[in-house]
Amino acid sequence: MDKYILAIESSCDETSVSIIKNGSEEIATVVLSQMDTHANYGGVVPEIASRMHIENITMVLEECLNKANMTMDDIDMIAVTYGPGLIGSLLIGVMTAKTLAYVYNKPLIPVHHIAGHIYANNLVKKMEFPLMALVVSGGHTELVYMSKHYSFEVIGATLDDAVGEAYDKVARVIGLPYPGGPNIDKLAREGKDTYDLPLPLDDSSFNFSFSGLKSAVINLVHNEKQRGNEIRKADLARSFEERVVEILSKKTMAAVRQYKVKNLIVAGGVSANRWLRDRLAELCEENNINLIIPEMKYCTDNAAMIGAAGYFAYEHGKVADLALNAKANDLLS
Ligand code: KG4
Ligand code: ZN
Repeated sequence: MDKYILAIESSCDETSVSIIKNGSEEIATVVLSQMDTHANYGGVVPEIASRMHIENITMVLEECLNKANMTMDDIDMIAVTYGPGLIGSLLIGVMTAKTLAYVYNKPLIPVHHIAGHIYANNLVKKMEFPLMALVVSGGHTELVYMSKHYSFEVIGATLDDAVGEAYDKVARVIGLPYPGGPNIDKLAREGKDTYDLPLPLDDSSFNFSFSGLKSAVINLVHNEKQRGNEIRKADLARSFEERVVEILSKKTMAAVRQYKVKNLIVAGGVSANRWLRDRLAELCEENNINLIIPEMKYCTDNAAMIGAAGYFAYEHGKVADLALNAKANDLLS
C-alpha cells in the first residue's frame, strides 16, 4: 500500500514541509528560507530563527497541503527532524509534528538531519547498497558507510570545523556576504590557485580538519593587510577551495576503495559546490564508481529529504511517542 509521509524540517534557518510518497516520490514541498534576514547579521541568529519558525510553520504546512491538493486525512504518518541543529529551531518542528501526530492519530517518525541529507538521493534515484556517503554541510563533515537501508556507520568525521562552517568563516574574512559557501564558489571560478595554503589533515585516516586551513586564510589576510598589500580575493577563494576539494575527494575515494563500494553519494549544503561536484565526477568516472549527487534544490535543507528518510526509518521500526524531544547534538546511528 502506498504510504504518504508529511515531513517537517526546521533545524536551522529553513522552515520546510513536504509530502513524500513511499520514500521516493515528491508530491509537494514548500521551503521558506530566512536567509535574507540572517544575512543582515552575517550568520544565523538562533533566537530570530526560532521566532521566525513559529511565525511561519502553520502557513508553510497549509501551503504544502494545498500544493499537494491533499488534507491530513490523506497522510499516513508524520516525520520530523529531531536533531541535530539549533535547539530552539528544532523544537518548533518537533512540537508541530507531535501536535499533528496526536490530533490526527498518525505515527510519529523521528529523523536525524544527516540521514535526511543522505536520503535526499533517494528522491533522485533509488539508493543501491553498499554505498559510501560524503556528508558536507554547515554543521557536518562525515563519511558514512551504509551496507543496507537505514544502517549508518560513521567511518570518519571532522575533528573541528565543518567544511561549510570553514567556507562561511573564510568568506567573512575576505568580505563576502553570508552565506559564504555559494559566494566563495562563484568567486573562485574567476581566480587562480596562487596562494600557498596547507592541505589539512593529509593522513591515512578518514577524519577531516578545517580549522587549520581556515586560520591559515585568516592569518594571510591579516598579514597582507598589515603590510598594506591588496588581497587577490578571487585567487584566495580559489586556493582555499582547491585545498578543500582536494582533501575531501582524496579521502572519499580512499574510503570508497577500502570499503569496496560501487556507489558514492554526496549530501549536505556543500554538495552544491561546483568544484566538488566536478572533481568527484571526474574521479568516479576514472574509477568506475557510480556517483549520485542530488539536484541543487535537495542539497540545502528541505523537508523532502526528511520525508524520504522517514519512510525507511519507519520500515526499520523507528517510531517515536509524544515524549520525543529535540536534540541539539546527536550522533547518526
Ligand atoms: O546542509 P545545509 O543547508 O545546512 C546545514 O545542515 O548545515 O548547508 C549549509 C552550508 C553553508 O555552510 C553554506 O555556506 C554551504 O552549505 N554551501 C556551500 C555552497 N552552497 C551552500 N558551500 C560551498 N559551495 C557551495 N556552492
Ligand atoms: Zn543540513
